[in-house]
Amino acid sequence: MNIIELKNVEKSYSNGVSLRILDNINLEIKKGDFAAIVGPSGSGKSTLMHIMGALDRPTKGEVYIDNKNIAKMGDRELAEIRNKKIGFVFQSFNLMNKLTALENVSFPMELSGIPDEKKAKMLLEKVQLDHRMNHLPSKMSGGEKQRVAIARALANSPPIILADEPTGNLDSKTGHAIMDLLKDIHQNGTTLVVITHDKAIAEIAKKKIVMKDGKIVSGR
Ligand SMILES: Nc1ncnc2c1ncn2[C@@H]1O[C@H](COP(=O)(O)OP(=O)(O)OP(=O)(O)O)[C@@H](O)[C@H]1O
Ligand SMILES: [Mg+2]
Repeated sequence: MNIIELKNVEKSYSNGVSLRILDNINLEIKKGDFAAIVGPSGSGKSTLMHIMGALDRPTKGEVYIDNKNIAKMGDRELAEIRNKKIGFVFQSFNLMNKLTALENVSFPMELSGIPDEKKAKMLLEKVQLDHRMNHLPSKMSGGEKQRVAIARALANSPPIILADEPTGNLDSKTGHAIMDLLKDIHQNGTTLVVITHDKAIAEIAKKKIVMKDGKIVSGR
């Protein structure tokens, strides 16, 4: 069963001239898949991830999450799907600067009406940040912020995790720990889509999607 499906997706921006960032993307992610998206800088990976996670709408084409066409959903329904079904790890972390690490991880659970501080602490332990729970993002390193972002993505135990360069800012030891965590999550049945330059992650993924100039050149 496809958990995410893109049909003939195009994304263009026009500021004076029209720029086609994604061009005729067809993609199927099955329930339980572990897919890696690779490709050069500027090839459209982050844009594709935002569309797969319904953070952004395509200019043309269709996006289905759990077999539902997102074009037919209102903003409220979309926000609910994002909160309950999808955990995002953003390339630029997108943590809330006024909240501590623990509060950032707790936030999605509060939003869905099931606050669980114990779980937030457990997740921060999993990403080896138990000693940084009460720090603000501004007092943390890039790799630490990234691990907070990963813990936050796991907070609602979503069936889908979309992660943009989750090991990009980490030393190799922490990177391995994060990779093991991702493997665990995958083995527990979570669908995982990871944008990565890391060959080791691309190797362990079951499916490899290669992008170039806004197109999928192999692995659809
Ligand atoms: N809001 C926007 N308006 C105009 N162009 C944009 C916008 N967002 C992204 N782009 C352009 O779209 C292209 C693809 O960007 P995207 O961030 O998806 O690339 P990427 O593959 O994730 O790159 P990287 O590996 O550097 O993160 C880039 O050329 C970028 O400049
Ligand atoms: Mg990117």
